Amino acid sequence: FLSSAHTQDFFTCLKSYKNSNGSIYTQQNPTFSTLRQSMVQNILAQNRLPLNPTAILTPSHEKEIQVAVHCAKMFDLLIRVRSGGHDFEGLSYLSQVPFIIIDLVNIRSISIDAKKKTAWVGGGATVGELYHALATKSRTLAFSTGTCATIGVGGHFSGGGFGIMSRKYGLSGDNIIDAKIIDYKGRLLNRKAMGEDLFWAIRGGGGGSFGIVTAWKIELVTVPKTVTVFNVTRPLDNHTAELVHKWQSIAPKIDNNLFIRVIINKFNGVLQISFKSFFIGRANDLLKIMQKSFPELGLLDSDCVEMSWIDSVLYHANFRRGDSIDVLLNRLNVTGTYFKIKSDYVTSPISENGLGGLFEMLQEEDVPILIDLQWSPYGGKMAEISESSLPFPHRAGIKYMIESIFVLAPPQAVNVDRYMSWIDRYYKYMSTYVSKSPRRAYINFRDLDLGVNNYVSNSTSSYNKAKKWGKRYFNNNFQRLSHVKSKVDPTNFFRHEQSIPPFK
Ligand code: FDA
Repeated sequence: FLSSAHTQDFFTCLKSYKNSNGSIYTQQNPTFSTLRQSMVQNILAQNRLPLNPTAILTPSHEKEIQVAVHCAKMFDLLIRVRSGGHDFEGLSYLSQVPFIIIDLVNIRSISIDAKKKTAWVGGGATVGELYHALATKSRTLAFSTGTCATIGVGGHFSGGGFGIMSRKYGLSGDNIIDAKIIDYKGRLLNRKAMGEDLFWAIRGGGGGSFGIVTAWKIELVTVPKTVTVFNVTRPLDNHTAELVHKWQSIAPKIDNNLFIRVIINKFNGVLQISFKSFFIGRANDLLKIMQKSFPELGLLDSDCVEMSWIDSVLYHANFRRGDSIDVLLNRLNVTGTYFKIKSDYVTSPISENGLGGLFEMLQEEDVPILIDLQWSPYGGKMAEISESSLPFPHRAGIKYMIESIFVLAPPQAVNVDRYMSWIDRYYKYMSTYVSKSPRRAYINFRDLDLGVNNYVSNSTSSYNKAKKWGKRYFNNNFQRLSHVKSKVDPTNFFRHEQSIPPFK
């Protein structure tokens, strides 16, 4: 722990540099604990890493961040960078060794060049703010990114960024053309200055490893004025396994404009299966495609809803129809629950028997109060991009990604171990049906159970120790990431439980 004299010296270091905005919250500040608590999204993660930050900084200029990096390095404090704060394991606001939080909430300006179809987006902006800015500018300018409006572009783009348009346009990372990053020396570098290796690493290598991204330059796409969505729910009966089995082969191959996600949801004992979709085009074209490729779903004209692209964003972010787009500007999403996320990739269809076994398991009584399994088809553009183009390796050959969300409400939370062992049993059951050697996972669905760095001492993290979990996120790109890390941050200054370790 930092001695109080040491802490004072750290603040003196900051004071001599900081501008007049007073953006430092110390533990003595009356609003400190409210601010700190407002960041905690996952109580399970907080219980694992309960240390309080020495200070929370909310810089409004890059220069302030440069100073903070300089002082943190001088006083051996770790930095946790926070953008939207949605890291599933809380790595943007939790730590087991002395640390400060740099919260980018004031680094979030967005400027759009509609003619050139590009935009600069501040590292602390949320995707909701980006969606809002695009909709304010035009009805047809769009960007391929995640569905939840409160995720931050800082962490989300750093891990790739998958969304309902990814079958057509790839990940957010595939559409980033420049960035600004502050490195461990406190230098502010753009693409040219950072070089292509680092620029490659930050678009998919995961947040918190290479420096602090203060802005991304993105390439926008044009969508039609009208798109179509549907969400059809089917009862769990003797035909469900057959229907989902069909979906597995069809959804990754269907027209690139069409994304059909399967959502298997159990809440408070009620299990249901939905097919939730986004189509870049009109309803009559969608119906033709569905009739030809997936008639088994029995999609009706009345299931299809035409709307503007921005309304489809609201729809998929689970806002109510008719909500103003201003709901996208709300940055707060404090769930205050206990949750655990697992991810998987499927390369060949799960047999009907396998699906049946899964549905049986989900019907057991003593399960987490909310289970939400989201099966997102890949294929399309995702399969056309090479595995080494970005650190994100899950491309050709992947049929779909499984995101498994488990929430424990407070009465269940006193018995965390019991539910965690059910989750372990589920994860083990799925092992027969998902990718192997490595069993793949998506870095943005952070899961510390896969393995962690021993980062308390920065010299003990190494590629060799980390490759067991690192290859699961990055496959053959993990070694290159580790080499880039050795080059751009040789002292391993930017580190956390699953940061990229230097190559040794
Ligand atoms: P947060 O601020 O917690 O940062 C995550 C990591 O990145 C931390 O290690 C942090 O230090 C680092 N970091 C943050 N800003 C940085 C910066 N500027 N420079 C460098 N490092 C930085 N994913 C997806 O692909 N598609 C989706 O649709 C969704 N949907 C979704 C919904 C909900 C409710 C949640 C909670 C999460 C998702 N995700 C997702 C996962 C999401 O992409 C992932 O959690 C991102 O890391 C979140 O980024 P934030 O900036 O919000 O997180």
